[in-house]
Amino acid sequence: MCGIVGYIGDKKATPILINGLSCLEYRGYDSAGIAVIENNEICVMKDKGRVANLKSLSGIDELTSTIGIAHTRWATHGKPSQENSHPHMDNSNQFAVVHNGIIENYNELRNFLTQKGYFFLSQTDTEVIPNLIHYYYTNGVPTIEDRFLWAVKTAVDDLRGSYAIEVVCKLYPDKLIVVRKDSPLVIGKGSYENFVASDIPAILPYTKNFYLLDDCEYAVISNDSIQFYDSSLTTHDKPIKNIKWDANATEKNGFEDYMLKEIYEQPNSIRETVGTRLKLDEKCSFDELSFTKEYLSNINKIYIVACGTAMHAGLVGKNALESLCRIPTEVDIASEFRYRNPIIDEKTLCIYISQSGETADTIAALKLSKKKGAKTLAISNVLGSSITREADYTIYTHAGPEIAVASTKAYTSQVVLLVMIAMYFAEVLESSSKDTINKLKTSILELPSKIETVLKENDKIKELAKKIYKEHDIYFLGRGTDYPVAMEGSLKLKEISYIHSEAYAAGELKHGPIALIENNITVIGILTDPNLMEKSISNLQEVVARGAKTFVITNQKITDSNFDCMINIPTIDSLISPILSIIPLQLLAYYISKNKGLDVDKPRNLAKSVTVE
Ligand code: G6P
Repeated sequence: MCGIVGYIGDKKATPILINGLSCLEYRGYDSAGIAVIENNEICVMKDKGRVANLKSLSGIDELTSTIGIAHTRWATHGKPSQENSHPHMDNSNQFAVVHNGIIENYNELRNFLTQKGYFFLSQTDTEVIPNLIHYYYTNGVPTIEDRFLWAVKTAVDDLRGSYAIEVVCKLYPDKLIVVRKDSPLVIGKGSYENFVASDIPAILPYTKNFYLLDDCEYAVISNDSIQFYDSSLTTHDKPIKNIKWDANATEKNGFEDYMLKEIYEQPNSIRETVGTRLKLDEKCSFDELSFTKEYLSNINKIYIVACGTAMHAGLVGKNALESLCRIPTEVDIASEFRYRNPIIDEKTLCIYISQSGETADTIAALKLSKKKGAKTLAISNVLGSSITREADYTIYTHAGPEIAVASTKAYTSQVVLLVMIAMYFAEVLESSSKDTINKLKTSILELPSKIETVLKENDKIKELAKKIYKEHDIYFLGRGTDYPVAMEGSLKLKEISYIHSEAYAAGELKHGPIALIENNITVIGILTDPNLMEKSISNLQEVVARGAKTFVITNQKITDSNFDCMINIPTIDSLISPILSIIPLQLLAYYISKNKGLDVDKPRNLAKSVTVE
């Protein structure tokens, strides 16, 4: 995915565009560029590399234009290079375009335009767009007065795929046009200035009033007006949304990296997620859901479908749903689920989890299950994101903006939300005792202070990171609710430290993985389930016996162990212990990455959400 920003107003556009891009670098960071209209000409400045590199290009500070578009790229078509960076212009340098998404029929369009005499300077799919706009602008017969808008719309009609597009034209220095389909785009309303961005944090310092553009909807934006059009260019009004986020939410607030800040935000993000949904001695309340006992008792299966970290949250949620509601629950990777003809009918409930709400495979899987008649419930952190528009029901995590590519606070919020959903179902179904539910409620309300206790282990974890950051392989072991934690801990480590790592269910060790254990190999064990403690300790002893260095995260008193290091965390109901036990592993991955001198927030090759297959 890529990030786009736009500005039109009475201030210099360039600093606003560049600040916005810096906030969106989590969406891609292999090249960046801007286009502004300067003295009636389009001026494009772009290069491969990060936004910081763009900022240092000579002449960029001298630009005085008050209208511009900008882009930070995650390469799909064509390697990162100056030519392939956005914005792209048409051959006559009249139109400039930035684009997030993929134009699937770009080859066909490129051939068509080549036959008409157009040439291409890049390998991107995007470059067909400004040329197609130019083609219609100069050759078409507009059916409305606004020739610019008509040419954009006619060109967009030819596109197949996903797109969020911004266009400026040197002949119209007082407007910019945007349109989207299956890629996010928000418009921020200011006073005598307006903003465009792929995601709210990029423009949060300037406004809290936003329009969420719908699929196939156009907006023509000037200093003092925003006009919306549907796909047949009929105008309509649109409600504005006020976002309550604090502008500081997108700052580092004294932390060296966003990831560390977001790890430390977890006591508060969990408070926000729990919100007013859960009170002792009252039933859990989800105004978003209207599930009756009859509906819930008829559910034959729940599928939880997601990618990456969100899928790991689903694995924790499965335990809660099965144990509290006794409804069979399967967790699936979205990219697998969508192609394996899953058995779904109107008695199936499909829960889709996505921090960004824009992950292509998760959205496609959701559409598939809707087609098959299932009810769909989306869990997302991003207001109005694509997944929330598709699902029958949406519950927001309210974890606040998550900027670091590696997910931390969004994950713990997803987990607590899933457990609360399971409790809500159990209360409607009367499938668990009041005592069980009340104990769990107490535990959830204690989470923020217990997370604070875990965070106090920071220095010990920092020391541990120093000892193991040069390792080439690190293994994670866990049983029961500790197994998804092992998987998530291993993923965090891979993502930001590039150390090879695997997670295994501790009981599976003997069925193959133990062959990998040799002298001095690092194994991290997660041991929080009192019922499985003895078995897990035995598994760890088996690796100690083969020379492994063992590090253990536990909430139990383990005496007489020969483990190399133990991180103690508070005890809590085992259904939510993954929220506490993942925190030392998030910190460990963070400090290992720092010791290796890597860019924690923007790890190589990764983007925060993957909007392509
Ligand atoms: C990418 C990110 C992961 C994330 C996954 C799902 O792979 O690098 O950190 O877990 O997408 O993202 P989502 O926004 O759907 O939760």
